[in-house]
Amino acid sequence: MTVRIAPSILSADFGRLAEQVSEAAEAGADWIHVDVMDGHFVPNLTIGPAVTSAVRDATDLPVDVHLMIENPDQYLSAFAEAGANYITVHQETCPDLRGTIERIRKLGVKPGVTLNPATSLETLAEVIPEVDLVVIMSVNPGFGGQAYIPESTQKIRRLRAMLDENGADGAQLEVDGGINVDTAGEASEAGASVLVAGAAVFRHPDGIAEAIRLIRRAAAGRAAEEVGADRAQ
Ligand code: DX5
Ligand code: ZN
Repeated sequence: MTVRIAPSILSADFGRLAEQVSEAAEAGADWIHVDVMDGHFVPNLTIGPAVTSAVRDATDLPVDVHLMIENPDQYLSAFAEAGANYITVHQETCPDLRGTIERIRKLGVKPGVTLNPATSLETLAEVIPEVDLVVIMSVNPGFGGQAYIPESTQKIRRLRAMLDENGADGAQLEVDGGINVDTAGEASEAGASVLVAGAAVFRHPDGIAEAIRLIRRAAAGRAAEEVGADRAQ
């Protein structure tokens, strides 16, 4: 199964966002990941529907909106109108998770659900058949450029088993946080089908296209050291 690469614009140059999004798309990115933060659920404030709409205008790729906000139900239609293809909510912010998932789907958007590193997979057991995307946070949410939490790999493996057991093989398993050439192989081998990468793409010294190429090769299971040899050339 070819892993999809979803660059996160959180680490992009916002002074030339459309250009960076197009560059990522031309370099073969599969989705564009948009990190929305409200300064309450996470200690950072980022972007909203207006920037999501600008991303929508800049690419035909699926726009994967990650809501790290309290009361996400208040904003579902705004992000649907802005052009989101996926809207992912945090299990921790949704007292009526099933209802929120239904409301996202009613807006014609694919629903996703995500868990912070400390939140148990079991909290999703009842809604797995209802979602198109399940996201494992492999960092504590709020910032780009953080280190991958190693325990995430076991959690990815367990989630992959849960999805297979529930016949939810249509759902994508996305891993979000700290993905780079050193962690992409491990995450995809454990069962990820979508890898979010922010700093590893938009902050790579050799540029966006080379960064995506290296991550894709690492995700394909090339040993990180081989990829390192590439870099040494
Ligand atoms: C963190 C965000 C992630 C982050 C990924 O709260 O949800 O999407 O931007 O960025 P990197 O790949 O730099 O960890
Ligand atoms: Zn994210």
